[in-house]
Amino acid sequence: MNKNINFNNKTILITGGAGFIGSNLAFYFQKNFPNSKVIVFDSFRSEAVFTNGNLQSLGHYKNLIGFTGEVICGNINNKFDLALLNDYKFDYIFHQAAISDTRIYDQEIIMKTNVNSFYDLLAIAKKDRAVMVYASSAATYGSLPSPQTVGKESPENPYGFSKYIMDQIAIRYSKENPDLTVVGLRFFNVYGPREYYKANTASMVIQLGHQILDGKIPRLFKGSDQIFRDFIYIDDALQAIIKSCNPKQNGIFNVGTGISRSFQDIADILQKELGTDLGTEYFPNPYDDYQMHTQANIITSKNNLGFEPKVSLEQGIKSYIPEILRLHGTDIS
Ligand SMILES: NC(=O)c1ccc[n+]([C@@H]2O[C@H](COP(=O)([O-])OP(=O)(O)OC[C@H]3O[C@@H](n4cnc5c(N)ncnc54)[C@H](O)[C@@H]3O)[C@@H](O)[C@H]2O)c1
Repeated sequence: MNKNINFNNKTILITGGAGFIGSNLAFYFQKNFPNSKVIVFDSFRSEAVFTNGNLQSLGHYKNLIGFTGEVICGNINNKFDLALLNDYKFDYIFHQAAISDTRIYDQEIIMKTNVNSFYDLLAIAKKDRAVMVYASSAATYGSLPSPQTVGKESPENPYGFSKYIMDQIAIRYSKENPDLTVVGLRFFNVYGPREYYKANTASMVIQLGHQILDGKIPRLFKGSDQIFRDFIYIDDALQAIIKSCNPKQNGIFNVGTGISRSFQDIADILQKELGTDLGTEYFPNPYDDYQMHTQANIITSKNNLGFEPKVSLEQGIKSYIPEILRLHGTDIS
């Protein structure tokens, strides 16, 4: 990865650091830059659920077992919690905290959590002159045809809209503060270790993997050989985040492999790796606003960040198998 930046002796804030991407980032710094000072800020999981029964926040302490940095339990919606961050002077802010569940339709809570808090975090970045790298999403594209390209957006759910508005805020902030670094990353479908506690919002890689390990026939939406996604392994997502700390210019960039694969591919690769031949069961897709084909246009990500995805779906799933096996049947609560 990018070893050009020395993060040792730097103070790093990771919001959402108990979640999937954030916790992997925390361990990335711990392993590669042992003298960096990493502060994880996350609301952690409570019992609170949305009306669809899904948990309101998906951060989990088990994602951070072995992490030796600082951990603050706080809500990005709460000014008193955010004030705890005034004790630090950050060099880098990696803003991952969000309602990450695309199937939440309570617009008020999504906009407050994902958008309003962004103003507060940008204010901290400005005060500290910190580099800000934040998570946007491929959901900003809705069902626009592939390849999805920055500059042409059409969000189709409140989550996608919230990320789209964050991007507008970042563009304005960048114009008003041309000497500061702000980069938004539109993650496509990220999969890999430490996503298990996202439960039914975790990637289909682990969900299908566990179905197969249960001895069940993997279940997919009808026509899944024609439903394509740009699936990206966590290591490549981390590479993009790290390279974003030193961009040629500020901006919003896609983080995908540039290659689309079907959900059927995932089931097939998993069965090959797990040595099963269970076939596939299909059921009707209940969603109207379902993306049928995503494939990131990553030309500007390559040119401005030096981002080069390296992991194919086959390689990513292969690397992930030991973790899928380890977690199978373990308590998710
Ligand atoms: N994983 C993906 O495929 C993907 C794709 C596109 C975008 N993203 C974005 O990347 C970021 C990280 O995603 P992830 O997959 O790690 O999701 P995640 O849900 O595992 O992580 C988000 C973290 O934010 C925390 N959080 C939620 N609300 C909070 C609040 N009010 N205050 C403080 N913390 C709060 C959660 O506890 C959780 O730990 C999110 O912003 C998400 O929208 C992820």
